[in-house]
Amino acid sequence: MKKADAAKRHSALAAEISAHDRAYYIDAAPTISDQDYDKLYRELLDLETEFPELVTPDSPSQRVGGQALSAFQQIKHAQRMESLDNTYSPEDVSAFVDRVQKALHGSSTDLFAESTDFTVEPKIDGVAVSVRYENGKFALGATRGDGTTGDDITENLRTIRSLPMKLKHPVPVLEARGEVYFPRANFERLNAQRLAAGEPAFANPRNAAAGSLKQLDPKLVAKRPLAIVLYGPGQLDGVTCTSQLDWLKYLKSQGLPTPEWIKHSRSKEELLAAIEELDKLRHNFAYDTDGAVIKVNSLATRASLGSTAKAPRWAIAYKYAAEQAVTRLHAVTFQVGRTGVITPVAELEPTLLAGSTVSRATLHNFDEIKRKDIRIGDLVTIEKAGEVIPAVVKVETDQRTGNEHIIEPPATCPACQATLSWDGLFLRCTNIDCSAQIKRKLQHFAHRGAMDIEGLGEALVDQLVEAKLVNDIADLYTLTYDQLLTLERMAEKSANNLIAALQASKSRELWRLIFGLGILHVGAGAARQLEHHFPDLDTLAAANVDQLQSIPEIGEIVAASITAYFTKPENRERLEKLRAHGLNFKAAERTPIVDTALRGKTIVITGTLSQSREHFEEIIRKAGGKVSSSISKKTNYLLAGTDAGSKLTKAQELGVPIIDEIAFSKLAEIAPI
Ligand code: IVH
Repeated sequence: MKKADAAKRHSALAAEISAHDRAYYIDAAPTISDQDYDKLYRELLDLETEFPELVTPDSPSQRVGGQALSAFQQIKHAQRMESLDNTYSPEDVSAFVDRVQKALHGSSTDLFAESTDFTVEPKIDGVAVSVRYENGKFALGATRGDGTTGDDITENLRTIRSLPMKLKHPVPVLEARGEVYFPRANFERLNAQRLAAGEPAFANPRNAAAGSLKQLDPKLVAKRPLAIVLYGPGQLDGVTCTSQLDWLKYLKSQGLPTPEWIKHSRSKEELLAAIEELDKLRHNFAYDTDGAVIKVNSLATRASLGSTAKAPRWAIAYKYAAEQAVTRLHAVTFQVGRTGVITPVAELEPTLLAGSTVSRATLHNFDEIKRKDIRIGDLVTIEKAGEVIPAVVKVETDQRTGNEHIIEPPATCPACQATLSWDGLFLRCTNIDCSAQIKRKLQHFAHRGAMDIEGLGEALVDQLVEAKLVNDIADLYTLTYDQLLTLERMAEKSANNLIAALQASKSRELWRLIFGLGILHVGAGAARQLEHHFPDLDTLAAANVDQLQSIPEIGEIVAASITAYFTKPENRERLEKLRAHGLNFKAAERTPIVDTALRGKTIVITGTLSQSREHFEEIIRKAGGKVSSSISKKTNYLLAGTDAGSKLTKAQELGVPIIDEIAFSKLAEIAPI
């Protein structure tokens, strides 16, 4: 294909894929089958392989995440990102309306003037961000930070599928404020994976979103199913909107995601009714909500109301009370984790809480039980912290009958009956042959996020361990077809499939094996980092704490845990067995970064250049540099073409070196154009 044709086809494909993304991620109404989507995507990737200059930052292929950063740049917001005052009762809401009326009309009448109608929206419990489009293209994303300056998280936001990289109708500047959230539906799976990796669970989806956006490697962020909703205006140029309703409609017309529910209210009664209505609906949303946001609808009225030092006078948050329920604690069971930690679990009389039936709650550890004086038979108040993980918050002690029982920590492991020992707050089974631990370890090794051994789920793992066919992950590779057929409910076809799946797992990427080994504190993210920094498993196994700690994201505790793992003879023995079975120990080939003066540098591009801006951006990114859209003291170079404007002036003011294309070619060690 000729270059010009390729570029044309590429841009058509990119537009088509973006439209399907919008239909799928924003409108929740897919317009194409997964296979057909994959076909389009494949064609786009093929074109990009043949013509690498087509890989622009806004290409759908870039959603998988680009270069990792060593730190986030700081971005000054074009307009301050304000926060909100909170209210908790209808009286507070009424007082807010009165304040607004008084400020506008000098009296607090409930007769709403034309200019003081309000909107009610969900208060999304995520991470506040600002997104900026320049000339229709996604140019910059930032966290709120202190309201004035935030982290440049542009590359992380690029991985969010519901955030279009292009507007439907380009305008010079469109900045919108919104919330990045971790969809509730995926939250429990994430925590299960983290626990399996020996990593702490996130307390709620908001922490999961915040933790994800803090990652310096966008590739890791791309693995998280983050989503975004936009609700507020920032700096605008070429956009005329007069009200909140108007603005949300406009955002929608630009293909941007907005809250699925908004109410227009013209009186206090309507406001309170809207708040109540939202409370009933909000559990159906994909995100957690902790309240409603009431806003003056007219943007002009907002401007005349202004802000206090803390928050705008034209908006307020109404916080719903945390969801609680009272139920009976029937029993306490003890779960044995992969590392032998015993977790007490409350078995409850099933009850409805925040939209779902709850019959179990975590009791965390024995210290917590003592502190809260929780007893079997108690009526307990449970709460959904962040609406997802139910926990026992207090005991209704005045309801006690005297028939309640103290919860005693078990003396022996519920699975293997070995004597348990205390390890700080935790009760632990230290028997390395404990069947529960072995099962959890095998399950972890086989799960989708690790070695991805299809068909080897919890039930089969239990069977294999109980039949004494498998006692360790290395034993999985000794399983024979005939052995499998001795298991109950195991058909010939399933046996064959499992053998094939085990065979296929031998050539998995190294990070999957590292993760699958189940080294304490080594999650999938750390495992990827380790694969990236070591040529093979043997070099990793021989690494000392200092070498490990020099890797970004590998801290003291993780490094110590890794060396401890590889020093243990039984782990060494396991590695030898896995090697003998032919598992892949080698890291994947990497395309090395060409080491030039651009590596690690932040460059801003401005003015008219001889080639597209994307062309230069590509060179910078491939050389391990970073392209930024705004000049700060941290900018290393301004690449300036002709007709450069305000950025040139700013660079001169800040003393940022200004280079032309010829100087750039020298730095990049490429032939000048
Ligand atoms: S408007 C100047 N609308 O809540 C007003 N904020 O507690 C800016 N939030 O910092 C905020 N949903 O991060 C607005 N529909 C919504 C919101 C919302 C969530 C967050 C936002 C803000 C925080 C204040």
